[in-house]
Amino acid sequence: MQLTIFKDYHALSQQAADEIIALVKHKPDAVLCLASGSTPLLTCRLLTEKALAQHIDFSGCIFIGLDEWVGIPPENEGSCAYFFHNQVFKDLNFSSSRIHLFNALSENPEQECEAMNKVIFENGGIDLMLVGVGMNGHIGFNEPGVSFDLYAHVAELDETTTSIGQKYFKEATELKQGITLGLKHLLESKKVLMLANGSKKAAIIQKALEGEITNRLPASIIRRHPNSMVMIDEEAAVMLER
Ligand code: F6R
Repeated sequence: MQLTIFKDYHALSQQAADEIIALVKHKPDAVLCLASGSTPLLTCRLLTEKALAQHIDFSGCIFIGLDEWVGIPPENEGSCAYFFHNQVFKDLNFSSSRIHLFNALSENPEQECEAMNKVIFENGGIDLMLVGVGMNGHIGFNEPGVSFDLYAHVAELDETTTSIGQKYFKEATELKQGITLGLKHLLESKKVLMLANGSKKAAIIQKALEGEITNRLPASIIRRHPNSMVMIDEEAAVMLER
């Protein structure tokens, strides 16, 4: 694991966008997996700007959505799919047949998980995964207590996740379960970028990076990944001791 502390959110987002661009230039058929949410928002915007300016072609890439709220349709602006459509696919030329998002309305979510596992496996695994960190230390919807050995699965959401998750929705929304890639996918990804910004993330970042590596704090798993980059801003780094 390599830790970099950036001056601010903009600087870390620049670097994250540059990492993605560099990969796609080098490997035009890269398998990319992105989280949605507040943290990667600026990365996605900068990625779009840079990609358009540099004429980067995403049509050969595979896109994997990290997770989704079960029962929330893609047209709901709080859904992860809505985020991806508006922040990524609108301006970058991903080919629709190469975009793989969980169908959160599926009557058979287990089958959704198996299908996603198969796509990832058949395409040689994930080249780059970009994740945020929840206030409870989750990654994707890998909630505290999750096994490090799981691939895609349906998760019962932690209370912190269901209450903080309201920030993505226009009106109060019942959130109970999530469908998510597993931490085994993260461990097997060729590269992982874990981003965090702002003082509200400082305490959880300190625990994830300096506390015990434990499934009670899923983000701590990042230290087991040999090619992971933890990219945080100065505000998120204030509680680090070392
Ligand atoms: C969203 C996701 C979540 C978020 C995490 C941080 O797709 O996977 O794990 O990354 O909850 O959310 P933000 O970035 O909104 O603080």
